[in-house]
Amino acid sequence: MTNPLIITIDGPAGAGKSTVAQMLAARLGLTYVDSGATYRAAALKVVRTGAALDDEGAVAAVVSAAQIEIVTDDGHSVVYLDGRNVGQQIRTSEVTLAAAQVSRLPEVRQKLIALQRSLARGKGVVMEGRDIGTVVFPDAPLKIFLKADVEERARRRLNQDLPEGRARTLEQTAYDIGRRDQLDAERKVSPLVPAPDAVEIDSTLLSAEEVVERIIELARERKLVKSL
Ligand code: DC
Repeated sequence: MTNPLIITIDGPAGAGKSTVAQMLAARLGLTYVDSGATYRAAALKVVRTGAALDDEGAVAAVVSAAQIEIVTDDGHSVVYLDGRNVGQQIRTSEVTLAAAQVSRLPEVRQKLIALQRSLARGKGVVMEGRDIGTVVFPDAPLKIFLKADVEERARRRLNQDLPEGRARTLEQTAYDIGRRDQLDAERKVSPLVPAPDAVEIDSTLLSAEEVVERIIELARERKLVKSL
């Protein structure tokens, strides 16, 4: 039996990973998984318990006791913390910044990477994140590193956030994205770097559909999916 297909999509915040990964999963009949949601759920638990984010021991203890689950429902990743759906609560800017800090800790990553790997057991997935191609699934047959200019990423994030009532200015958004890029790239464990065998796609001037087409073309060339 051949192994189920795993496609990894890594890259900085706002490069279009979620949109592209969801569309790609739907097109190929694979399960979409948002690994960032697991780090956000861990961060939410830390914020709720009031542990100091720079107290590594306390943060690791809180996260190790947290019950985090992620399921795919109608093409979206739904994350549960201690049995409750926290899909909305993990998207605040407080949790976003906390997630960047919490995800620096090796103990936290160890727990969440095990969870992410378990989600691909027996089924094909498109998983998006920062270290999916480098650490979580280093043997995946198709790895994409999706990037875009910081201004364009801020614009997209803002468009995504506005309809949901989390209004912010372009400057604030670009600042937050820049700060998260820095935290993600500089951390010692699993820094945000492309896997050596990842295909880099710059989405600044491409629509999500064009990026998806390009990835499907790569999957066909590699005979991972049938040509239609
Ligand atoms: O993709 P996102 O914005 O939801 O990710 C939230 C945080 O989690 C972000 O700071 C990066 C971190 N993260 C990570 O370290 N590794 C992953 N595979 C996914 C996200």
